[in-house]
Formats: sequence, structure tokens, C-alpha cells
Amino acid sequence: MSDSLTIRRPDDWHLHLRDGAMMQAVLPETARHFARAIIMPNLMPPVVTGADAAVYRDRILAALPADMSFQPLMTLYLTENTDPDDLAAAHASGLITAVKLYPAGATTNSASGVANFDNVRAALERMAEIGLPLCVHGEVTAPDIDIFDREAVFIDRVLDPIRQATPGLRVVMEHITTSDAVAYAREAGDDLSATITTHHLVINRNHILVGGIRPHYYCLPVAKRESHRLALLAAATSGDPRFFLGTDSAPHPDTAKIAPCGCAGCFTAPNTMSILAEVFENADALDKLEGFTSLHGPRFYRLPVNTDTITLTKGAPANYPKTIAVNDEQITVFDPEFPLHWRVSG
Ligand code: NCD
Ligand code: ZN
Repeated sequence: MSDSLTIRRPDDWHLHLRDGAMMQAVLPETARHFARAIIMPNLMPPVVTGADAAVYRDRILAALPADMSFQPLMTLYLTENTDPDDLAAAHASGLITAVKLYPAGATTNSASGVANFDNVRAALERMAEIGLPLCVHGEVTAPDIDIFDREAVFIDRVLDPIRQATPGLRVVMEHITTSDAVAYAREAGDDLSATITTHHLVINRNHILVGGIRPHYYCLPVAKRESHRLALLAAATSGDPRFFLGTDSAPHPDTAKIAPCGCAGCFTAPNTMSILAEVFENADALDKLEGFTSLHGPRFYRLPVNTDTITLTKGAPANYPKTIAVNDEQITVFDPEFPLHWRVSG
């Protein structure tokens, strides 16, 4: 097995950059390795109009260090008041790459999300018409549904009905966490794909709950039992182009994570490529890494693949900072709890 691997520069198809000082701190962590990322719109207040996306994009570009290049692929946050003409104009001008559906109350900053799906019919139909992808946070929020079942129930009760009712709608099932989602994606046609995070390839729910509660492993959708992690790993390393990387790197200050009602989110931007190389090597699938991180995403989004490359080399375990400072706060970097032998060396 060679100790060096050169692949096309990867993209991250689901990323939280936040804003202000936090964005300034985390953006270089992604831009160092990734050429592009789909930027989540769940700011406070959310990015709901084309005008919001344009100013947010400009703030991202202004925060980018001068020696780095990075293309933010903007998204709009779908609400029951979204104007289909605004979506279409933002898409036609090249400003946005996708629209994000959060069921109301499903996750961090999702209060403006969709409660009544009838109220977004016109927007979804327009998106199907113009080929604008819908990125879906696939969890139901009904209080009677167990948190570990929320993804599987969403597929049956919400996602499949939406797709049946909206032929041609292009959908990304984001950050999938279950074998149910893997099976659904495998059976779908070319109009559906699924992203998988770095951390869901590494942790199962024991990481969160065994031996004391560990808030840094709490994210949404919450990690499930080991059999589901194995299904995700099999999908990610299979070479099936329906599956690709969306890190869902979601930084929160430690004070917000380690709290009686701690925030959901794992911050994986700094060490994602090292972790993925380790995971793919252990699955005997290093040859599938490039497809997962660099080829399948552009294929679905109908964008060119990146022309430049990165090289990963294997050696003594790489050390990443445990935390990143933002003002007087710390953001904890995801700890996979195994040594990382691969690093991005060029
Ligand atoms: C995300 C966040 O913090 O914005 N949290 C998370 O656990 N993934 C929101 C999200 O993508 O669900
Ligand atoms: Zn997310």
C-alpha cells in the first residue's frame, strides 16, 4: 500500500460557516483543503432571500485569507413565505446552488422552517421545473416520534410523498444516519443523492452516552446504533455516486455545547480529510476516497470537478489542535479517538 495519495481537491456539500468572528476563525479550516462548500443558511436570522444570500456570500469572501481560494455555494432557507420568483432569480443569476428544507424545530436555528408542506408546494414545483436541488434535513419533529426514529419516519411520511407529488424535484438527503436512508437512496433514480458526514462514519450512539454524557459527540441527526454506522460506511466506500461528503461541520462555542441544554453539532473541518483517509484505508477502500470527496458531489450538482489536487501522505500520527479560539471562547475540534496517520501535505 502506497504512503501517498493524490486526489482531486475535495468539496464539502454541507457546511456551517456561521458569521462574524466565528466565521473568521473557522473558514480557513475548510478553505485550506476544500475548493467549494454548500453553505448552510441557518444564521440568526436565516438567509431566506436572494438579497440575504448575496450579502452573506460577500461577507464570506471578505473573511477569506488573501492566500486562500474558496468558492461558497450559497443556499436559501426555505420558509412558508419563500417567493418562488425570488428563488428562480437567485438560481438564474448563479447566486444560489440549492435550497435548504428544515422541518420547523428539527435542529439548531430551524424555528423558521416548514411546518405545513402545502405552503411550499409552489416553491418546490418551481425548483423541479428549473432543476434547483432541495437539500433536506430529514427528520420529523412530532413529539411522539422517538429521536432515534425521526429520520426513518421522515422518509415515509414526508420525503417520499414530496417526491411523488413533485416529479423531477432533485433532492439531497443530507447527513444521513440510518440504513433506512441508505436503502432509500440506493433505490432512487438520478434525481436523488445523499450526503454523509465524517463523524457519522466514526461514531455511534455509545460515543455520546456510554461512560458519561459527551456533548461533543451530540449532533443532529443524532448518531444511531452501530449497525447504522456500518451501513453508512458501506455506502460511502462503495463507489456508488449517489453518496458523497457533506461534513456538516457545525461549530459551537464550548460554553454552548457543555450546558444543561447543549447545542447539536460536531466541528470536523480541521481534521476531516485525515479522518476520512484513515476510515477509508481501514475499510480497504482508499481508492474510493476521491469519488466520495471530490467527484460524486459535482456530478449530482452538475458542476465541473476541481482541476487541482491535494496529496495525502501517511506517517507518524498527525496532531490537530484540540480547540480553536474565537474571541474568549473555545470551539472543540472533533476527536475521532483513534490516531490519524494521513495528513494533507500539499
Ligand atoms: C447544525 C448546526 O449547529 O447548525 N447542527 C448539527 O447538529 N448538525 C444544524 C444541522 O445541520 O442540523
Ligand atoms: Zn448541518
